Amino acid sequence: MRTHYCAHLSEKDVDREVVLAGWANSYRDHGGVIFIDLRDRSGIVQLVCDPAISPKAHEVAERVRDEYVLIAKGRVRLRGEGLENPRLATGKIEVVVEELTIENESDPLPFTIGDDQVGEEIRLKYRYLDLRTKRALETFTLRSKAAMAARNYLDRQGFIEVETPILTKSTPEGARDYLVPSRLYPGHFYALPQSPQLFKQLLMVAGFDRYFQIARCFRDEDLRADRQPEFTQIDVEMSFCTQDEVMEVAEGLIQAIFAEAGIEVPTPIRRLPYKEAMERYGSDKPDLRYGLELVDVIDLFANTQLKVFREIAQFRKLNRIKALPVPGGSKLTRKEIDALTEFVAKFGAKGLAWVKVKEDGELQGPIVKFLSQEEKEGLIQRTGVGPGDLIFFGAGPKGVVLEYMGRLRQEVAKLMGLIDQGRYEFVWIVDFPMFEIEEGEVKIKALHHPFTMPKNIDTEEIEEMISEAYDIVVNGVELGGGSIRIHKASIQQKIFEILGISEQEAQEKFGFLLEALRFGAPPHGGFAIGFDRLIMLLTGQESIRDVIAFPKTQKAQCLLTQAPSPVEPQQLRELHLRIREPKRG
Ligand code: AMO
Ligand code: AMP
Repeated sequence: MRTHYCAHLSEKDVDREVVLAGWANSYRDHGGVIFIDLRDRSGIVQLVCDPAISPKAHEVAERVRDEYVLIAKGRVRLRGEGLENPRLATGKIEVVVEELTIENESDPLPFTIGDDQVGEEIRLKYRYLDLRTKRALETFTLRSKAAMAARNYLDRQGFIEVETPILTKSTPEGARDYLVPSRLYPGHFYALPQSPQLFKQLLMVAGFDRYFQIARCFRDEDLRADRQPEFTQIDVEMSFCTQDEVMEVAEGLIQAIFAEAGIEVPTPIRRLPYKEAMERYGSDKPDLRYGLELVDVIDLFANTQLKVFREIAQFRKLNRIKALPVPGGSKLTRKEIDALTEFVAKFGAKGLAWVKVKEDGELQGPIVKFLSQEEKEGLIQRTGVGPGDLIFFGAGPKGVVLEYMGRLRQEVAKLMGLIDQGRYEFVWIVDFPMFEIEEGEVKIKALHHPFTMPKNIDTEEIEEMISEAYDIVVNGVELGGGSIRIHKASIQQKIFEILGISEQEAQEKFGFLLEALRFGAPPHGGFAIGFDRLIMLLTGQESIRDVIAFPKTQKAQCLLTQAPSPVEPQQLRELHLRIREPKRG
């Protein structure tokens, strides 16, 4: 229908006869002459409807309202001295309309498109209007280009894209499954895949050697800003490879995708063992755009007068006393420090001791009177603080202290404006423990997943068992992860044993995998990158919902379609299901 896109027109097109199509972004009636900003995917150009040139077009223009769908035929002309609009790419020209058609009208909009103040609920209900912004279009264009770049890179590296089932059996990635009842088999269910994990391993047993898939995954878990119930992974698996070789492919892939957004990612990406990440940053996904490292000071307080610290310092294996030196932190006010104390209390902190370093180098703060000269000197030396700085202290059980000091680190960085938003700091976290042992619990969980190869299967202490797993982290976000897999049935069985999965349960749940491992399974490994998170990072957006065309809310609802919703009784009968009313209260 059209000859040009609106924003592709320029001075070069002056006097050209064009046909344009799009939406009325806005209109102004200037006593006789009507100006319409016509918008299409490319951007905006100004239409001029002058009764002196085309009385008919002007008459149509009088009926135009916001978001009407228009087709305009006209001639491009220069706007003339003083009438240019420097905010528009097409601001030097306009199109004098000769014929105007209203293709469709629009009801008054429920909200102003692009208005940041509008609540998310209403925007999600009318998501197709919300997506009319330039920003949304840019986001989804980049998303498309990134997927293309990923496919091209992996294709060049000899990977083939294979689709795996959506209606399948549960794969244990640690979340709850979404289930689909079977009509043909009463009481039986398919599970939607939490990831293609087991299938990609089977493709390695098939000898495909290098597989990838841009795969949809489903997880029924508590949602957060960076989690959706269905999301997309770039999923990769390869055979006869070392951990380093897999990581190299992942780095190349990330490089190729970031290049699409004009961002250079230097490789190799640095690596940090899990233990070190926890001790230095209090997190297995540290944000390395700023310093602020945690420093161990437990040994300095073995004999201190400060009773809480002395008691905690008696158990150096179980407890931690961590210092967080903050350069320039002396300028934090009491109110700000109190707010930070309240913040860490939410994560189990019993208090948040602090000292400031005065201009003369002396320490100041509520705990200083309990500190000996030796302790003060030891602290200054260990943390490297100087005049104007501040040190926070977290003391208590290891797990709790690392967690809240890690969060404090982030909070202080925000408060002090230490985060450079334009920077991308990548880091691999490696040498994860095989198992997660919940404090005070007998239950053991696989930290990555139970198909991950241990590095030291014969260790006496299962707490000391390390896995060949790796996570890629950028700016404090876990972007992806993977591992070398177990390719021998005997090792797989041993891991299931440690996890307390009985032979019968293993047969029921993963019998097909164990069997496949007995038919010449090659050594293999792979990874998956969270594609939505990646696009979120690339476009600098705060929520994963912004980069998914039709996302669900924090409560897993689609406000646009009203899913989930009740179904007809007949459908339930076919599926052999009866609904039990949930208990009240
Ligand atoms: P994992 O469970 O770590 O690994 O997932 C890989 C990446 O997927 C993204 N991700 C999510 N994104 C949005 N919403 C969610 N609910 C969500 N859950 C995970 C994250 C995460 O890093 N099969 C293994 C991969 C492997 O071992 O090869 C797996 O799925 O960015
Ligand atoms: P108190 O002796 O309870 O008055 O505490 C003295 C200072 O130490 C206060 O600033 C507390 O916030 C801090 N504090 C108390 N317990 C801890 C702890 N477990 N870790 C860090 N600081 C603490």
